[in-house]
Amino acid sequence: MKRLDGKSALITGSARGIGRTFAEAYVREGATVAIADINLERAQQTASEIGPAAYAVEMDVTSQASIDNAIARVVEKAHGLDILVNNAALFDLAPIVEITRQSYDKLFSINVSGTLFTMQAAAKQMIAQGRGGKIINMASQAGRRGEALVGVYCATKAAVISLTQSAGLNLITHGINVNAIAPGVVDGEHWDGVDAMFAKYENRPIGEKKRLVGAEVPFGRMATAEDLVGMAIFLASGESDYIVSQTYNVDGGNWMS
Ligand SMILES: NC(=O)c1ccc[n+]([C@@H]2O[C@H](COP(=O)([O-])OP(=O)(O)OC[C@H]3O[C@@H](n4cnc5c(N)ncnc54)[C@H](O)[C@@H]3O)[C@@H](O)[C@H]2O)c1
Repeated sequence: MKRLDGKSALITGSARGIGRTFAEAYVREGATVAIADINLERAQQTASEIGPAAYAVEMDVTSQASIDNAIARVVEKAHGLDILVNNAALFDLAPIVEITRQSYDKLFSINVSGTLFTMQAAAKQMIAQGRGGKIINMASQAGRRGEALVGVYCATKAAVISLTQSAGLNLITHGINVNAIAPGVVDGEHWDGVDAMFAKYENRPIGEKKRLVGAEVPFGRMATAEDLVGMAIFLASGESDYIVSQTYNVDGGNWMS
């Protein structure tokens, strides 16, 4: 018996990166997974590479109509929704005096409103089904404390931790567990972009910031997305039924809380 046998999962932003790795892991554990992403072409490519238990869904978490359509598609395709991973997010970098309203609005609209209203739509569906559910929000070590150049992103991830706490307390009365994962630094396309932004603001050669943050991790290296999979499966499975409103650090020892 696999740990997610027969479950229907939706993972936002899973055309690439951590979300894609979670989708592969959930399929290995017996789930059917919606690869829900704003980049439909890449979501289709990813789904076809994962196999028949994965299917692409176009979804923009900043649009209520798109959220509702994506949930409806999942319910039709996989006979309901059991697991939501709120994974889609955007990063930006700027000193406080250079932060623009445009960047602020964009990050909050994807990382915070996107998480809240996708969680709300999934919860409505799960409550109507009456068989509970699992919601996993992707937070970050960035939500645990500020960073000089990362003010807006850090604030969005602190908001994700807070929403996880409130939603978890509210939705457990329906048998829906809401918890979060706070990764540290995870190697991949996302961090290649982050490295390039730090190169600009800290006047470093490309690749240097990645080397430095990896060397600072107590474990001794950056994470791979695969390092997060154990927690992602655990929080989606029945093994975590008694866990409510928590955010787990999976960061090689970067942060303790
Ligand atoms: N990579 C890290 O070091 C790290 C560390 C801590 C937390 N996280 C968090 O983990 C999650 C995944 O990170 P990642 O590194 O895989 O990111 P990524 O940038 O590689 O992937 C993000 C995905 O989200 C999609 N997306 C963007 N806007 C969207 C929208 N409006 N609607 C739907 N999809 C949208 C993108 O197309 C992309 O496929 C994020 O929440 C991120 O904040 C990442």
